[in-house]
Amino acid sequence: MSIDTPSKETSQLLLNPPPLLAPPSRMYSNTMRKSLYHKLMPACLQRWSPRAFSAEGLAEEEVKTLFEAARWAPSFFNEQPWRFVYTQEQKAKEHLLGAMSQSNRVWAARAPLVAIAFSHMFYNHEATPNRWAAFDTGAAWMSFAYQAHHMGLVTHAVAGFDEEMVYQLTGVNPDEYVAMAMIVVGRPGDPNALPPKLREREHPSDRVQLAEIVYEFQLPDDLE
Ligand SMILES: Cc1cc2nc3c(=O)[nH]c(=O)nc-3n(C[C@H](O)[C@H](O)[C@H](O)COP(=O)(O)O)c2cc1C
Repeated sequence: MSIDTPSKETSQLLLNPPPLLAPPSRMYSNTMRKSLYHKLMPACLQRWSPRAFSAEGLAEEEVKTLFEAARWAPSFFNEQPWRFVYTQEQKAKEHLLGAMSQSNRVWAARAPLVAIAFSHMFYNHEATPNRWAAFDTGAAWMSFAYQAHHMGLVTHAVAGFDEEMVYQLTGVNPDEYVAMAMIVVGRPGDPNALPPKLREREHPSDRVQLAEIVYEFQLPDDLE
């Protein structure tokens, strides 16, 4: 089978995406997305970061599966520098949400699960800095996000939070770990439940052209 020919299963998925995860028409109007749609692993274009969440909780097995996916991410020397703290418990969730900026809390509060991805900045068996820890933790988050998408769940990473508060609340030592991002997880919700300004933004976002980020061998001299 040529690389351009999607499998029967992929074709079916592309023709009939799961209703709640179906990209809005705006996404199809982008020519780049349209032209690449049939070539990419569908999740690359179908995953996005909504703000509309259903309040329905996640089963313990679903939660475990998400972290399992993160666990299998690649890392330098297999150091696995990612650490996750999470909660679905209402009181604990409110504490974590308290560390979030107001503009994020307004939509995140409805989601059932809030996690924080930390990165261990030193090697496990040697107290020297691991220069790849953040890169690897990002890979774990991406595995987590794609696994969530695969399970019909949605995720939204959040950098707008008070770092100091997060270390205090979780007891994580800021001398060893960096709080990289909060992660909001749940099932897709009704965009009409969002405040009007957020409802307007409730669609997948675009990307810069490939030519702006990929270069053969050397970056051009005039690169900004
Ligand atoms: C590390 C990180 C931090 C982010 N922080 C926020 C945030 O504080 N608030 C927010 O609404 N979205 C946040 N996002 C979501 C991005 O805005 C979003 O991923 C980006 O616009 C691309 O859109 P997409 O994920 O829907 O494809 C963050 C994403 C990442 C990866």
